[in-house]
Amino acid sequence: MPTHRLVMVRHGESTWNQENRFCGWFDAELSQKGAEEAQKGAQAIKDVKMEFDICYTSVLKRAIHTLWTILDTTDQMWLPVVRTWRLNERHYGGLTGLNKAETAAKHGEEQVKIWRRSFDIPPPPMDEKHPYYNCISKVSGWGAGVEGRSGDGGPGWGAGRRLGSRQQHGCPQERRYAGLKPGELPTRESLKDTIARALPFWNDEIVPQIKAGKSVLIAAHGNSLRGIVKHLEGMSDQAIMELNLPTGIPIVYELDQALKPTKPMRFLGDEETVRKAMEAVAAQGKAK
Ligand code: 3PG
Repeated sequence: MPTHRLVMVRHGESTWNQENRFCGWFDAELSQKGAEEAQKGAQAIKDVKMEFDICYTSVLKRAIHTLWTILDTTDQMWLPVVRTWRLNERHYGGLTGLNKAETAAKHGEEQVKIWRRSFDIPPPPMDEKHPYYNCISKVSGWGAGVEGRSGDGGPGWGAGRRLGSRQQHGCPQERRYAGLKPGELPTRESLKDTIARALPFWNDEIVPQIKAGKSVLIAAHGNSLRGIVKHLEGMSDQAIMELNLPTGIPIVYELDQALKPTKPMRFLGDEETVRKAMEAVAAQGKAK
């Protein structure tokens, strides 16, 4: 018998999903299509009259806006919301901002699949010459985190594309990560690294709420959610490589007392739409 229900949703399509760019910790907004996906996901939750007690999201606006859409549509804006960098997308390091298909044409589809889906092989690091370094990997002021390692900014960022090290692309140095302890701010992450920083939050904050009988909603990202799915289902490092989560379609888990799923994950969307959306995510790494 299921004891608990957990609902998770990957944000709707972002502007960088639309442009097929590695996004990671870059704070891209929802695209028009992504806003519509979030609305559809919200309506699906409303249709089944799901109510929540507490919500969790990342510190990235594509996930936060998706959560707001769900809460607004279901008239639950009053619920407590906890935002944490630990639910962020995995940090795509030196690949951040690059087009996935162009990267596959340049480095091969196999290499891109390894960068996107291998369990423990990280992408190249984001260093201080990377155009988005100041936005994502450099912490200024109090509690400063780790500085980037030296290198060439990663594959695809040639000298001609480098910008100055300050105010790159008009993005300010980040305050939102200023509270991270030294060593916590990544310059790149594998799925394994993503799980390692998400799980302490899952175990310390989310699990006690679920076990206390609270109905939890998590709005997060493709890879932070893949990490939670891997953990919940006890999936192997190999099996998780093949899981691609669609944008904006809520995922429902029924869990027993030990928080083990009593059934496979269920999507609040029709099977054909879900299948196509998952295939489309997998295909983003193909050379066009
Ligand atoms: C990104 O960060 O680019 C996406 O949100 C997830 O990308 P992936 O499906 O290539 O891992």
